Amino acid sequence: MPKVKQINHVAVVVDDMERALGFWRDALGMELHELRDVPAEKSQVAFLPLAGSEVELVRPTTDDSGIAKYLAKRGPGMHHLCLEVDDIEGMLAQLKARGVRLINEEPRTAADGKRYAFIHPESTGGVLVELYQL
Ligand code: CO
Repeated sequence: MPKVKQINHVAVVVDDMERALGFWRDALGMELHELRDVPAEKSQVAFLPLAGSEVELVRPTTDDSGIAKYLAKRGPGMHHLCLEVDDIEGMLAQLKARGVRLINEEPRTAADGKRYAFIHPESTGGVLVELYQL
């Protein structure tokens, strides 16, 4: 049976990266590991790792992406929770069999080779959940 291993990251959508870093990096003192543009996702992301997990800040760089629309509609805030699983195909099949609404029925592959898929908030109690297999 596929297994959830740990929380991989928590993602927060921001409209002003420098202001967000003023809190997460400067006020809390978390280490900024990486700040980069992800053209494929039309966003800029910052990673602030902790033991076994990280906080990810995401800022849309265009107006037309899903995350830009989310920001326009709801404002900055918590965007998604990412769970690391040991078998993403198996987990998606298990969720599907239980009638869980999936955003990605098949895993997608990120530039760094990680595979991921999103679960619709309608089935999770209102939280956008991402699954990751490293
Ligand atoms: Co994520």
